[in-house]
Amino acid sequence: MSLPVFALVEDLRAELAAWRRQERRLAVVPTMGALHAGHQALVRRARELGDEVVVTIFVNPTQFGPSEDFAKYPRNLEADRRLAEEAGATLLFAPEAREIYPAGDQTRVSVGALAEGLCGASRPGHFTGVATVVSKFFALFAPATFVFGQKDYQQLKVLERVAQDLLFPVTIEGHPVVREADGLAQSSRNVYLSARERTAALGISKALASTQAAFLAGERAPETLLEAALRVLGSHELAVEYVELRDADTLGPAVASKNEPSKKWILLVAARSGSTRLIDNTILGHDPALRGP
Ligand code: PAJ
Repeated sequence: MSLPVFALVEDLRAELAAWRRQERRLAVVPTMGALHAGHQALVRRARELGDEVVVTIFVNPTQFGPSEDFAKYPRNLEADRRLAEEAGATLLFAPEAREIYPAGDQTRVSVGALAEGLCGASRPGHFTGVATVVSKFFALFAPATFVFGQKDYQQLKVLERVAQDLLFPVTIEGHPVVREADGLAQSSRNVYLSARERTAALGISKALASTQAAFLAGERAPETLLEAALRVLGSHELAVEYVELRDADTLGPAVASKNEPSKKWILLVAARSGSTRLIDNTILGHDPALRGP
């Protein structure tokens, strides 16, 4: 194993300065570890965009609510190191919390309306935690290309906003959702699922596929598209938190418009299987991985 692991900002800065002198292009994949095939796909994409690829592994305390799974979030640096290296990472940055939140820390990045609905509604403060930690990574690594997954679609939109609003010289690339063979979106939290809960969880991707199929068959009425998903969700043992059809660019409401047939719509779902909260989404007409049930 030769993939270097850095834990200190100071050491990282020295390495980044050396890369800059050599004009090495940098691509960064921020993660909370517990790496899986979805993260690896992001790293492979980063490999195409950069000469050096940093994977950050940091379970960011400020994005977890008091009753969420921060303490039990899966952590396994050796396995992560293997998976990151296999996918083409050239450096792992795995800091302790005190490196990222220095003693006395009191600065937060808070985003407006984009961070309010969907996951923001049930996870108050979550996107402030995400925007804060990723702003630190933007500041640390810029100029660089950052690769984020569309699995966390609202997060991707929030972070695009942050980069624009705070003038960070970074480029953001969104990567399509990576799924297991049966359609379940890859997630570090899938390890929490019992066999029965996993079967129920499949209802989420099946619901997305059902709406996707209706859309591809020509259906354009938002209520009817939503109903297709709700029917499938209702036949699985899931506690649905939200199912929403939104404009994929703005995350505003999906409004049927004959004048703008090119508008992209996205169907987003959050649901619990047992006590595990899962999210998934599909961009209608643009998701070859989810063509139908
Ligand atoms: P984490 O959940 O570890 O995800 C890291 C990155 O992998 C995110 O950009 C996420 O969207 C992407 N990802 C996870 N599962 C995916 C899948 N099945 N398909 C495609 N991409 C997938 O998201 C976070 O960490 C954190 O909030 C972070 C951005 C690192 C800030 O702490």
